[in-house]
Amino acid sequence: MKTFGATLLAILIPCAAATSQVRVTSPDGRNQVVVATHDGKLYYAVQRDGRPLLTPSMLGFQFRGQPPLRDSLRIVDSSRSIFDETWTQPWGEVSRIRDHHNELKVSVEETSSPNRKFTLAVRAFNDGVAFRYEFPAQPSLGDFEIIDELTEFAMADNARAWWIASNRPRLDRSEQLWSEGPVSTLDSVQTPLTMEVRNGKTFVVIHEANLVDYAKMNIRGPRMDSRTLHADLAPYADGVKVRGHTPFVTPWRTIQIADKVTELSPSVIGLNLNPPSVIPNTDWIKPMKYVGIWWGMHIGTMTWSSGPKHGATTANTKQYIDFAAANGFGGVLVEGWNVGWDGDWIQNRNAFSFTRAYPDYDLFELARYAHSKGVKLIVHNETSGGIENYERQMDSAFTLYESLGLDAIKSGYVTDTITGGHSHWSQRMVQHYRDVIEKAAEHHIMLDVHEPIHDTGERRTYPNMMSREGARGQEYNAWGGEGGNPPEHETILFFTRLLDGPMDFTPGIFDILRTKTGPARTNEDARVRTTLAKQLALYVVIYSPLQMAADLPENYVHQPAFQFIKDVAVDWDTTRVIDGKIGDYVIVARKQKNSPQWFLGAITDEEARTFDVPLTFLDRGKSYIADIYADGPGANWLTNPLPVAISHRPVTRNSHLRIALAPGGGQAVRIRPAGGGRARAEPRAAAALLPRQSGRWPRPDRRRAHRRDRRRADTSRLGRSVPPVVYAHGAGASRDHAPPDRVPRPQSRLPPVLRSAARHAARRSGRDRPSLYRSLVRGAAQLARRSGSRHPHRCAVFGRDRQRRGAALPVQAVARPGTAGGARAPQGVHPLARW
Ligand code: NOJ
Repeated sequence: MKTFGATLLAILIPCAAATSQVRVTSPDGRNQVVVATHDGKLYYAVQRDGRPLLTPSMLGFQFRGQPPLRDSLRIVDSSRSIFDETWTQPWGEVSRIRDHHNELKVSVEETSSPNRKFTLAVRAFNDGVAFRYEFPAQPSLGDFEIIDELTEFAMADNARAWWIASNRPRLDRSEQLWSEGPVSTLDSVQTPLTMEVRNGKTFVVIHEANLVDYAKMNIRGPRMDSRTLHADLAPYADGVKVRGHTPFVTPWRTIQIADKVTELSPSVIGLNLNPPSVIPNTDWIKPMKYVGIWWGMHIGTMTWSSGPKHGATTANTKQYIDFAAANGFGGVLVEGWNVGWDGDWIQNRNAFSFTRAYPDYDLFELARYAHSKGVKLIVHNETSGGIENYERQMDSAFTLYESLGLDAIKSGYVTDTITGGHSHWSQRMVQHYRDVIEKAAEHHIMLDVHEPIHDTGERRTYPNMMSREGARGQEYNAWGGEGGNPPEHETILFFTRLLDGPMDFTPGIFDILRTKTGPARTNEDARVRTTLAKQLALYVVIYSPLQMAADLPENYVHQPAFQFIKDVAVDWDTTRVIDGKIGDYVIVARKQKNSPQWFLGAITDEEARTFDVPLTFLDRGKSYIADIYADGPGANWLTNPLPVAISHRPVTRNSHLRIALAPGGGQAVRIRPAGGGRARAEPRAAAALLPRQSGRWPRPDRRRAHRRDRRRADTSRLGRSVPPVVYAHGAGASRDHAPPDRVPRPQSRLPPVLRSAARHAARRSGRDRPSLYRSLVRGAAQLARRSGSRHPHRCAVFGRDRQRRGAALPVQAVARPGTAGGARAPQGVHPLARW
């Protein structure tokens, strides 16, 4: 851990004994917390720039069998310290984090029997304030049972809040759609609770940090026209919230504060309130992208349970491993590998074995095979909330995984209450989740927890606690009752759930309407409600150190847009939120760790939007190439989600990117060094390569540029660092696909064989595939030879495939350097076998 400037200074400022008011201010002087007593009650209030954000809010506890710790309190002492340190994360949204705060410790005592005492620790940061209760050991408070934590958050404004409920009687209660409304109307909600106050001049987020041995905090609203929110702890079955023994500290209650919504992310206040890492050597903890035997279960083409559609077979897993190895993915998640999935696996929670595989899944052989390919198996441990069953097996299971070199687990807790009727988020579960993290760390295992308790910054102390779900992810687009996640969903997640930590959202569905696995989804069905380009942008927008390419691998084959998923980073040096509005849009740029590359992701809700983004974050004097994956012409999440326009253009820090987002759309950009040297004057777009699926052709005024771009697709102009990609549009078009007079001609710069292939496609689209493929392969091979590149060449002729009604299927060929190339038929052969 590195320190920044002057490190910790502990300056104790003795306060007059029994003062009734003390305060602490953030290092920049803008945030102030005042702690005061009034009529025997203890309050805190928060100001920003001298204006109240939280008005006096009560503090205290209700214990079982004791009078409330609330009514006869006085401040007996206080002290202050200042702290300034910068520490390095092993992985994250940013690599270095400054913890700069002023701390106030306020000693409080009851003036009457039972004379209990505690310290209120308050920290004021430039990005918010936090406090916690610290109980010393004392005769009148040894063993205790908390019935209620009386902490209030009295909002000065009738703030606008984005919330999900905490009291819905259904499974996995954090998997909800977000609502929005004034704070005075809130009932019972979860944190992080994001609020806009003072007409958008300030943003406030209430959450908690370092939840170790306590119950999860929800927030109870006023249920009347008031603005005072209350802490609301998840209960044991008997209503007790927390059982403990002094000495004891509570989690921190955090109030993050920012002037602009874009300054809320990345949120580090919670990390700064957790202790430093206890894992001395974190070299084995590695962010990665992964694929998995997973989406098939959610769309019904595979099963978790044994039987003819069992997904987790040895043969199937080997194909996933091959795919992962061929495409640079670090892991393969396999769900349904272990005995226990047959029957109602939610009810039969104690039937799960975490060491015994189904007979058609050879764990040992697969661990060996994966290792030989440089890929890790990610072991799935669904518990259905049967935590006693899991705890009984954890030791042997984790020992087994470690012995096989399996260093990542995705766990699951599909349940509402656990054995004994305790809440999924009760102290019992908090303890369980923490035990799993500690045990996994002992066995060098990284964790991705589904149905978790919300993230409270544990990853600082245990960096093996990498990602979690804890919100509606992609799976809702497979079967979600409301038809999937609405287009605005991820633009809200970014400013709410994602402020507490990484999310395993599982982006990357390419077969958006699922035409490859059955009849196309209608808009009434559950379906992905984004464009394909937005699926790409989510890799940048939604941060997770374990990032899945969630679709079936065969749906990535022959998809030029898949290149972005292969290229995108998962570990970041810097993150900048360029623009955003909760529920409307987000634009984020992130710089890859230990690399000069940047990635940019922009997403919108159901409205089309255009932005002009200056690239001032790039290094001065350097030239870069931007690989742009934009919504293609006519793209629209509802009617036409697939078109992606891929282009490459040189950029510098003086450049601007025009980001045009389709309704429900997105844009993903990789910005990589152009290969050294000074920046040149910026030429116009170098290539616009669009797999046309349907929709309108570019407007006439854009057609010239379109033709020019196509000419520039000759990769020699882009330099050797760009994998050359050449497309030729075939003309087998009908009126709805591409009016004949607007079909671009094959370019004269293409090799003759490719030109003739395109003509061939135009005449006989879909009818004479073998000879078309042969021509394409020859064309790709000629291109490969001509450029001497080490990259594979793809040639595509976009024609109409009459065998697939209504679908415009790209016919493609790939030639690898040094070979004559190999044609890829889009149908018929399992692509995993050859890709
Ligand atoms: C819910 C998880 O979110 C999902 O990813 C998993 O496939 C199922 N549970 C089964 O464990």
